[in-house]
Amino acid sequence: MSDLKTNMSNFEDVKKSLNSKSLRVCVVGIGRIGLPTALSFAKSGLQTIGVDINEKLVEDINLKKFPLKDEPGYEDIFNDVLEKKLFSATTKIEEAVSSSDLILLSLPTPMDENNIPDYSALTTVGLQLSEILSPNSLVIVESTIEPGFIENEMISLMSKSGRLKIEDNFFIGVCPENANPGEILHDFTHLPRLVGGINKNITKIITMIYKYIFSVDLIEMENCKTANAVKLTTNVFRDINIAFINELSLMFEKLGIDTMKVLEAAKAKYNFQVHYPGAGVGGPCLPINSYQLLNTARRAGVKLSIIESGRKINETMPDHVIKLTLDALHECKKPIEKSKILIMGISYKPNVKDIQLSPAKDIIKKFQNLGSIVHIYDPFFSSTEVFGLKVEDNFENILPEMDAVVIVTGHDDFKKIPITSFTKMKTRILIDTRGVIDPIYAKKENIIFRGLGRGNS
Ligand SMILES: NC(=O)c1ccc[n+]([C@@H]2O[C@H](COP(=O)([O-])OP(=O)(O)OC[C@H]3O[C@@H](n4cnc5c(N)ncnc54)[C@H](O)[C@@H]3O)[C@@H](O)[C@H]2O)c1
Repeated sequence: MSDLKTNMSNFEDVKKSLNSKSLRVCVVGIGRIGLPTALSFAKSGLQTIGVDINEKLVEDINLKKFPLKDEPGYEDIFNDVLEKKLFSATTKIEEAVSSSDLILLSLPTPMDENNIPDYSALTTVGLQLSEILSPNSLVIVESTIEPGFIENEMISLMSKSGRLKIEDNFFIGVCPENANPGEILHDFTHLPRLVGGINKNITKIITMIYKYIFSVDLIEMENCKTANAVKLTTNVFRDINIAFINELSLMFEKLGIDTMKVLEAAKAKYNFQVHYPGAGVGGPCLPINSYQLLNTARRAGVKLSIIESGRKINETMPDHVIKLTLDALHECKKPIEKSKILIMGISYKPNVKDIQLSPAKDIIKKFQNLGSIVHIYDPFFSSTEVFGLKVEDNFENILPEMDAVVIVTGHDDFKKIPITSFTKMKTRILIDTRGVIDPIYAKKENIIFRGLGRGNS
């Protein structure tokens, strides 16, 4: 076994093992990001093993059942690399890690109910690696982490058993992932990536490996913490800008100004970067990334007030959705109690099957607390049960019973629905939180319409 081992700190050694395809790769965490990553390494001809604690996922993968149906392009790659025996999955981390040269960590970094970042998957695996990593391996953390996490926590966890010494017989770096769910194949082959290593040599080695697999631009940073700072800065930039537009849109609504028209024209200015208002900001990245930076700030003893305010604004958008609905019901002299409300779209963003931190959950709960009877429809979740409710198979069939429809996610499918469909409702109330419906068409059909941020001038 030992003479198979590539010394991952030796540039020429790594280059040779890439070219001879003898570099052995292990990806720990084969979820939304980790599985496509593992498939990319396997596709380039490198023997790749995926490790996950989710037994069902591992079993399904080994039975050739592709788990990421909403990631176009990967199913063929999956079938191909399984056929060629270049990829398999396991729950046994020890075997997989000890027989690999390169270990990628694509583990979840969620937050708890108090919005405190939870790095337990990484710290658990860090301690395991301390016992099982074979000498001269390279670990690359792809998960989104706070600047300083590698330097202040991960290295000491991995050194705990006393077997390993950083820069002596184990090496670490980061390559934070930037891909968008639903577009991962495109993003992996187009978006530049950030690289940061424990030293310059490791940064160069990671760059060479990623260039070989993904052939995208690699941006070399001076260290791990700077690379992670960039990743968080770009995502938190979005969270804050969405909050800015959300706040403005509440005022524009009052002033009879249509935010969508404002943004359409604002886009014409060369340095304006458009962000859209909506029912809230969810997903596995933006809200968590803001709380990660707030956590970093707390530790550093500084206050990041813009991020704090932005989070507050984005988290109160569901309340505004309720307010718009109450207002429309009031116009029809309908009580909220026992009103039947159809939520259209439960994913946190358009065109993906993903409900992580989706504002839909909060909105549904608020309607239920007010006594409404909530139905949900989302083409990505048809016939399944989500948030304790059965997802309707066909929204048109249920419209005649509905008192209000609330569009929470701007799926492309919803843009194709003719406005006349909503005239079949029991009460014609349509709340659009994502700019899917043109208010003029709704008006023409005598629909009581409320668009988030869309004042009627
Ligand atoms: N999903 C995204 O849009 C996205 C985009 C960019 C970056 N990221 C970051 O990538 C990282 C991974 O995110 P994801 O969306 O792929 O998460 P995910 O939940 O889809 O996948 C994580 C996988 O890790 C497994 N896992 C958890 N603990 C484990 C352990 N101790 N040992 C082995 N496996 C374990 C889980 O079972 C799961 O399959 C996160 O840091 C996230 O912030 C995600």
